[in-house]
Amino acid sequence: MRIAFLGPPGAGKGTQVELVSREYGVSVLSTGDAFRAMMKGEDKLAQKVRSYVEKGELVPDGVVFEIVREFVDNKDSFILDGYPRNLRQAELLDDFLEVKGLALTGVVNILLDEDEIVKRLTGRLVCPQCGRVYNIYYSPPHKDEVCDDCGVPLERRIDDEDDVIRQRIKVYHREMKPVVDFYQRKGLLFNVDGTGDIHEVFERIKKVLDGK
Ligand code: AP5
Ligand code: MG
Repeated sequence: MRIAFLGPPGAGKGTQVELVSREYGVSVLSTGDAFRAMMKGEDKLAQKVRSYVEKGELVPDGVVFEIVREFVDNKDSFILDGYPRNLRQAELLDDFLEVKGLALTGVVNILLDEDEIVKRLTGRLVCPQCGRVYNIYYSPPHKDEVCDDCGVPLERRIDDEDDVIRQRIKVYHREMKPVVDFYQRKGLLFNVDGTGDIHEVFERIKKVLDGK
């Protein structure tokens, strides 16, 4: 299984890849998570990455692809969450995998409308210690804004501010159409309705993955 998960900000990519990874025993690279880990540092690269993420802009393709290349190299099964984000990234990955004879086996594109995207992102809270993701509307912590597992105060992501959310959605619409067309032409694209609760969406994704 070599799958990429696409979808707008807040579509549920991270939530679903975690379930898919557990169900099928396949390892995941989330480029967003990789950047959030990097941003904890203070070096030049951390500062550079932060300057893009906090504005809702894409990190330069070369920086992203280095991380992806290292992850997929020598793996015959993997899941990518949030990569590719533009046509150039899709082509870089395609060329790299083709040489190895390990092309993607499918691309899951989670669809969600804008009102729901904004609701999910403005409601998201994350535990800074264990990374567990909550949502104040759909999956709130038992105690006000404190992690059920770690007991530490939950935080919002730096890019979940209203103006940055708007910019991320704009970038998504600007960049993703050619990526979707690229995979559609290859017969790899599977659109999945991202509405409904987490388990309903997971059942839809399982149907796609089991049918392959
Ligand atoms: P990234 O971290 O990938 O952010 P994103 O694509 O904007 O998506 P999110 O992580 O916000 O949402 P998600 O789809 O994972 O949803 P989640 O499951 O968390 O990227 C962040 C930044 O890094 C980018 O803006 C860019 O700067 C940089 N970057 C990353 N990859 C890059 C690349 N390839 N190239 C260049 N730059 C890159 O769910 C959201 C919320 O909804 C949660 O609270 C969750 O609990 C809740 N939820 C999920 N599913 C459901 C459901 N079915 N019902 C109710 N609630 C739900
Ligand atoms: Mg995510």
